[in-house]
Amino acid sequence: MEKLLIAGGAPLRGTVTISGAKNSAVALIPAAILAESTVILDNLPDLSDVAIYSELLTEFGAVVERQADQMKIDPSALRSVPMPNGNVKKLRASYYLMGALLGRFGEAVVGLPGGCNFEPRPIDQHIKGFEALGAQVSIEGGAIHIRAKELRGAKVYLDVVSVGATINLMLAAARAKGVTIIENAAKEPEIIDVATLLNSMGARIIGVGTETIRIEGVDSLHGCRHSIIPDRIQAGTYMIAAAATRGDVLVDNIIPKHLEAITAKMLELGVRIEEHDEALRVIGSEVYEPVDVKALVYPGFATDIQSPMCSLLTQTRGTSVLTDYVFSSRFKYVPELVRMGAKIKLEGRSAIIEGSPLRAAAVRATDLRAGAALVVAGLTVKSGITEITGVEYIDRGYDRLVENLAGLGAEIWRA
Ligand code: EPZ
Repeated sequence: MEKLLIAGGAPLRGTVTISGAKNSAVALIPAAILAESTVILDNLPDLSDVAIYSELLTEFGAVVERQADQMKIDPSALRSVPMPNGNVKKLRASYYLMGALLGRFGEAVVGLPGGCNFEPRPIDQHIKGFEALGAQVSIEGGAIHIRAKELRGAKVYLDVVSVGATINLMLAAARAKGVTIIENAAKEPEIIDVATLLNSMGARIIGVGTETIRIEGVDSLHGCRHSIIPDRIQAGTYMIAAAATRGDVLVDNIIPKHLEAITAKMLELGVRIEEHDEALRVIGSEVYEPVDVKALVYPGFATDIQSPMCSLLTQTRGTSVLTDYVFSSRFKYVPELVRMGAKIKLEGRSAIIEGSPLRAAAVRATDLRAGAALVVAGLTVKSGITEITGVEYIDRGYDRLVENLAGLGAEIWRA
């Protein structure tokens, strides 16, 4: 089984260039299904989830070409075939196929999603939205069956602020008859990225980034070219690694505004941060003050960054409280940090973290961001080698992680 080995202690120094956002890419690729002609995506990250989606679209009959960070998708010959098993189970974001296939063909049979299993990931709000548009939905044999004679615009109030449900509803509503209003919509930058693509394809979507999104359905959508926004979660992870190793790193090719909550919290810790137009320079300090962190929906502190942030909080000189208000039990990485000497207690949806030096150990990543937490922890350990298994999780969300960290002076390698 492949593993990452880290001989920590070196301060990270230099520049890291951030790639396109995973959580945009896994929605933009299926969104291309809605177009009648070729969609070109630029700034695509090199991730296993992207590769799986490329295979999935090919299985539906699309012609997909990849060259470096560009993907060309010709969906003209695409057809809706039942996909109850296979690749759909390899990633959570396969649920976007439901909205895209429903929007284009009025039907979809898709296996229930797989992906990160840190806690149950319901899709009741997605189903509520599809039914509001006039679809019949049933779950048979581990797959969701969705069918609509005609999709008609509707007003949908999401009970839960959900990134996936908001995007899936936009996909299904883009070609519905009439106007759809999504109330209590999520505001993440990746949602804006998807709406930008859809509007470039001829959709009529306004209000994205606020809690009310209006979609006026159109009869057809055409191809376009779109560049994916930078990955704010990847960027936040490198910022945290720079701070945790007391380094000096320029995190480049980002949109600093997307990281405002993380930047503010790191400044409270005592990290020094210089803001540039498309970059943030992160300079570590010897002493960090304990802080309380609340993971919330955007523009709050991102839940996807709470895991690596926990590793940074082990480096403070006091006790911090980290609470995740989005997912109630996203702390499966904590026992692994405790194996490295971390002093962390779990209480409900909070982790109480007492600053303490970490030591090398053999640990296991249980999901994508848990893996990031363990890498950050390993980078702080001054003697010995930390071994991390579950590398396949990390490769889902961080392209070129080993190369990037080694380029910043870390002693890290795959074995
Ligand atoms: C997206 O997941 C991201 N994944 C997650 O990133 C991210 O953690 C999450 O949004 C929150 O920001 C992708 O974009 C592919 P949600 P998603 O629907 O859409 C509940 C990563 O590490 N909920 O916004 O699945 C849900 O249980 C991944 O990159 C329902 O109750 O998240 C959660 O408590 C992990 N019913 C809350 O809403 C539903 O129908 C937010 O979930 C849907 C969600």
